Amino acid sequence: MTFDNLHLDLQDQILTVTMDRESALNAINMATMDSLHRLFGHYVPDHDGISGVILTGAGPKAFAAGADIKEFASFSAQEGKRLSAKGHETYFLIEKSRVPVIAAVNGYALGGGCELAMACHMRIAGEHAKFGQPEVNLGLLPGYGGTQRLVQYIGKAKAIELLLTADLINAQEAHRLGLVNHVVPSGTEVEKAREILLKISEKGPIAVRKVIEAVNAYFTEDTDGFHFEVESFGYACGTDDFREGSKAFLEKRKPHFTGH
Ligand code: CAA
Repeated sequence: MTFDNLHLDLQDQILTVTMDRESALNAINMATMDSLHRLFGHYVPDHDGISGVILTGAGPKAFAAGADIKEFASFSAQEGKRLSAKGHETYFLIEKSRVPVIAAVNGYALGGGCELAMACHMRIAGEHAKFGQPEVNLGLLPGYGGTQRLVQYIGKAKAIELLLTADLINAQEAHRLGLVNHVVPSGTEVEKAREILLKISEKGPIAVRKVIEAVNAYFTEDTDGFHFEVESFGYACGTDDFREGSKAFLEKRKPHFTGH
């Protein structure tokens, strides 16, 4: 499988995915979106040797400066709706990924780029990173889930202010608001994300998957997250991994999880 505009590097079961259109500040064009869709729709779920994914942008300036404005500037209403729907579908694949996905935000994360970071399970920001949803400057609104996920992360009052004013916030403010998990020196975002994913890779993979699904259930209409947790807890109790994890604890040794 080849992925236009993405550079893939798999080490120690951690897949680092770099969006590689530096001259356009890694703006997400349709080819990139298609690559992300195939990556998270097929490549990652079908690959047994991936325990976590890091998403980042090429160069020191941008994670991604949004959807590619040059590409959709003359879109009709129908074309715009299709673009938005594809973005939603792709970002849901990321949010629902069975392995954790961390955005290593190395610069601007704007519009569709901020929305992409928000679809990931965690965000690590370099100290010079900037976040924002500037779509209203273009006479648009966010189209890849920004009106929903920003509210989930930072609450309605602040989210609606940022969405209406198009103000950008720096990494420290994003951290204060709860949008970002950690702020680190610029250039070390991937390293920090890797450290977190390596820690998670030592945990039971079924438990990791079920935690992601249960947290997502909180935000899924018509799903009772508490009920989902009861079902998932029961399911996890029936796995070999739970036998091994509890046995290892009692024998005062490290567990060897198999994902069964
Ligand atoms: N789409 C296409 N090209 C983009 C881009 C984008 N979103 N953002 C930057 N670029 C391009 C610029 O056009 C420029 O290309 P050229 O050299 O060919 O002119 C190159 O990247 C470098 O950008 P700048 O010269 O503008 O760099 P700067 O340092 O002066 O400014 C910036 C940086 C503040 C991020 C500025 O580029 C900017 O405001 N970009 C647009 C941000 C934006 O509006 N994003 C939302 C897009 S709409 C969206 O994402 C909708 C959605 O939710 C689905």
